[in-house]
Amino acid sequence: MTFKEMILQGIPDQLPSKKSRDDKYSHAPKRKDILTPTEKKLAIANALRYFPASWHAVLIEEFVEELKLYGRIYMYRFMPDYEMYARPIHEYPAVSKQAAAIMLMIQNNLDPAVAQHPQELITYGGNGAVFQNWAQYLITMKYLAQITDEQTLHMYSGHPMGIFPSSIEAPRVVVTNGMMIPNYSKPEDWERYNAMGVTQYGQMTAGSYMYIGPQGIVHGTTITVMNAFRKKLDAGVSPNGKIFLTAGLGGMSGAQPKAGNIAGCITVCAEVNSAAAKKRYAQGWVDQLTENIDELIVMVKNAVANKAVVSIAYIGNVIDVWERFDKENITVDLGSDQTSLHNPWAGGYYPVGLSFEEANEMMANHPEQFKTAVQVSLRRHAEVINKHTAKGTYFFDYGNAFLLEASRAGGAVMSENKIDFRYPSYVQDILGPMCFDYGFGPFRWVCTSGTDADLRLTDQIAATVLESMLVNAPASIAQQLQDNITWIKEAEKNKLVVGSKARILYADAEGRAKIASAFNDAIAKGDITAPIVIGRDHHDVSGTDSPYRETSNIYDGSKFTADMSIHNVIGDSFRGATWVSIHNGGGVGWGEVSNGGFGLVLDGTAASKTKLESMLFYDVNNGIARRAWARNSGSLEAIEREMKRSPNLTVTMPNLVDENLLKHIQ
Ligand SMILES: NC(=O)c1ccc[n+]([C@@H]2O[C@H](COP(=O)([O-])OP(=O)(O)OC[C@H]3O[C@@H](n4cnc5c(N)ncnc54)[C@H](O)[C@@H]3O)[C@@H](O)[C@H]2O)c1
Repeated sequence: MTFKEMILQGIPDQLPSKKSRDDKYSHAPKRKDILTPTEKKLAIANALRYFPASWHAVLIEEFVEELKLYGRIYMYRFMPDYEMYARPIHEYPAVSKQAAAIMLMIQNNLDPAVAQHPQELITYGGNGAVFQNWAQYLITMKYLAQITDEQTLHMYSGHPMGIFPSSIEAPRVVVTNGMMIPNYSKPEDWERYNAMGVTQYGQMTAGSYMYIGPQGIVHGTTITVMNAFRKKLDAGVSPNGKIFLTAGLGGMSGAQPKAGNIAGCITVCAEVNSAAAKKRYAQGWVDQLTENIDELIVMVKNAVANKAVVSIAYIGNVIDVWERFDKENITVDLGSDQTSLHNPWAGGYYPVGLSFEEANEMMANHPEQFKTAVQVSLRRHAEVINKHTAKGTYFFDYGNAFLLEASRAGGAVMSENKIDFRYPSYVQDILGPMCFDYGFGPFRWVCTSGTDADLRLTDQIAATVLESMLVNAPASIAQQLQDNITWIKEAEKNKLVVGSKARILYADAEGRAKIASAFNDAIAKGDITAPIVIGRDHHDVSGTDSPYRETSNIYDGSKFTADMSIHNVIGDSFRGATWVSIHNGGGVGWGEVSNGGFGLVLDGTAASKTKLESMLFYDVNNGIARRAWARNSGSLEAIEREMKRSPNLTVTMPNLVDENLLKHIQ
């Protein structure tokens, strides 16, 4: 059978032969055995409903076994026989071009070169699922092949509920992931209901088909490091020869050295797991590697003396580096940490004084002792960071719960009011006030032709648009524009593509719409040879309500509400999005965040132009309006500017209160 025939078949007519999972891939860890016997029966019955009754006797044993071995039913038998990757759009069997583009995006999210646990349909972040099982994948792809431009496919946490009649203006796909009744949104609930096969953790760009490999993380980290240096250094001082000290060379953290190189500093990144460090070194994501701390000191001193731009991985514990740098009086200009402290007791953070192997042994066999070792370590970690910050280091939390866990362990990280942390998070200090409040966020696109030529042309178009905007840009956003011009001009040289031909940059509402519009014109002229998908990470101005991350710089008390992300998805859906998605959970955990996103297929038509203008305008300005109402100064300026530019926009503006008037209130 050809690829097209296999897609059109959906669930095969004949029961395929049994398949086992392939050891060459990384696999999801065994999940908790959480279901009661009654719930297990339900999980099996739920899985069997995808298949004809005549297969049930065979499949039942297999699914019971999967549930026992892995804690989930992935239906490995139904993994497709064709290769999984984003094909050029014309290779997909589809009635609707829009649906074909979505098929491409789904296959990219499951491509073994891109996905973390491809056979468990997990794209990134450990739990970030595109589907719960292979039956859902097969049916969804078949539906997308069938769907017309007057129908909409509704996806319930990976399950294709059905194709419903709609209209040409409506989204082709509406996705929800992990939406729960709020009282049933604890981590245990995810374990239970995911094991039952009725919900899934969509992360952000996993369950919304918008993941583009590590490029997104590299860009976000670069922007963060560049802006952190600006906070620390006097205007005009270059980061060359200045030190950024951090930890972690794992999934996301592995982007730090590359980002440091692009930002132009010396990056020192400690990683306890030598396999992780060597992998990043072999991939060229970090320039130098050493296991010897004395050698590290020599390398760093040389780099400082030569004002070098270099990244150095140290195989060992980050606390040893902080302490040794303190002893040697090496100035750390910028400090952060990307160990996985959202998961402190199960391998996210390794205590100082133990080798990687010793720590793993203790974790498995003496978990209480391990927990104590982590807490002791966190206190020491906080103490040495405090010594450096007293000497002038600018330290920020990288959304990895470092400050939260250090405070829980009794580390000296609280400020005098005993409510706030002594150090800011990267969103509070950097991405929030410098980017999100002005509408700058992770706009991305994918060239569905799959050609380098199209991607190159889009890079050039985007650079030209941003350069033209820079001419009359207000001072408050000129730097962001310039950073993204530099980024896009060097993007091809930096070899960032893994999987689909994708690109990312940060732009505001005006920039996003102008770039998308210029792409649409180039498609109409035939300069770009196939449609372009535009979208974004949910980690953005408007898409995400997350009180300790994306909306942590909202100070009017509303950061625990989720109205913004819900409005975003509803608003985008009737303004032209090709698909929309809304998720519970994301980088910070189930029940902790609500995040939404979209995809929009540009095909060079006038209809595409209308849609992109209307949808992108709302997609960004919804968040700026909310941030302005929360009295964020950057957003007050940005939304005033937008109202002048757009007579149809009226946003309710806050009246600011003189703080002195509030002083007497007890
Ligand atoms: N990069 C971003 O844009 C971003 C944004 C928000 C949050 N985060 C957070 O950053 C954290 C890291 O994410 P990840 O995907 O890289 O996780 P990961 O688990 O893949 O990598 C973390 C690495 O830290 C290493 N490590 C742990 N303790 C150490 C220690 N004491 N010294 C040296 N190395 C140590 C581990 O061996 C591991 O390789 C997560 O908590 C994530 O939520 C990242």
